[in-house]
Amino acid sequence: MLSGIRATGRLHFGNFLGAVRNFVEHQAEGNRCLYFVADLHTLTTLDDPEELRKNLLEIVTDYLAAGLDPEQSVIYAQSSVPETVELFLYLSMFQPLGDLQRVPTFKDLVKRNPDRVSLGLVSYPVLMAADILGPQATLVPCGEDQVPNVEMARSIARRFNSRFGDVFAEPRMLSEMVKVPGLDGGKMGKSDASNAVDINLPIAEIGNLYKKRGVTDPARRTRTDPGDPYHGCKSVYPVHELITPGEKGNREIAHACQSASIGCGECKTLLIESLASVIEPFQERRRELAKKRDYVEEVLVEGGKTARAMIKETTEQVRDLMGIRQY
Ligand code: TRP
Ligand code: SF4
Repeated sequence: MLSGIRATGRLHFGNFLGAVRNFVEHQAEGNRCLYFVADLHTLTTLDDPEELRKNLLEIVTDYLAAGLDPEQSVIYAQSSVPETVELFLYLSMFQPLGDLQRVPTFKDLVKRNPDRVSLGLVSYPVLMAADILGPQATLVPCGEDQVPNVEMARSIARRFNSRFGDVFAEPRMLSEMVKVPGLDGGKMGKSDASNAVDINLPIAEIGNLYKKRGVTDPARRTRTDPGDPYHGCKSVYPVHELITPGEKGNREIAHACQSASIGCGECKTLLIESLASVIEPFQERRRELAKKRDYVEEVLVEGGKTARAMIKETTEQVRDLMGIRQY
């Protein structure tokens, strides 16, 4: 199992709940897991070297604080494995350019930022295929927006195997990432970065953000108007569903909303209590880890070695099958 995250900024609550919480679960289920920070991919959109270096360490610290355990999972930086870049080059030799230009995420970026269409941006999915195929990952947990990229990795694997010999496992996407709404009800951190909730803010501040900006069902103009938690409430109820489970939790809240026996203020207070129970233990571990930067760097060094050994083996096979002999 393998997944990566770009180092564009620190984790927000959406990444934490939608992705990293699952990573921790997969690790606990005893899967062989690789989790990496795609620092090379980050170069397609970020050109502040200080910021990139900082983000990388912050994200790894967040991973560790969230419960990823370097004794159980391989935690590494993409750039620790130069063989991934070499593999990317080989794969790029038989990847048609047209397919890459049709990827929706690429078209999106071109539209938003037409003067930043680099070669690296076009070939983004091929580098991602190398990330996945290098360690022979079979399952790739990631968000819906990554479907075309994982599909491309699959088709590259298939094409290579039939042309040069059976080297690659065919990866499958594990689409289990829940969409976590941001404060404005749009997907957190995607539609608009300012709708994201920083999981490292003091819980009281997170509470204030929800109190002030969390959008609720607009049909509830007064306290006595019944609401529709499932379709009307865009930023509060969906989070309850994720973190306030059970009969006494989100079900009861939904009924109370529908019968107007709870007000939105009160409902938000309950949400903040749930948030605190998830976020506070994380923040405590995060504070401890922040004092141990050497340890975090050591995790990357060790994880890098392990990942490299796995990926090197695949890259050597590919190199050889494609007719390259290194003298
Ligand atoms: N493209 C992914 C994203 O933006 C990050 C990523 C890079 C990735 N390489 C990967 C995800 C390999 C899964 C597997 O979220
Ligand atoms: Fe949303 Fe809760 Fe208000 Fe209902 S009571 S609209 S679920 S915030």
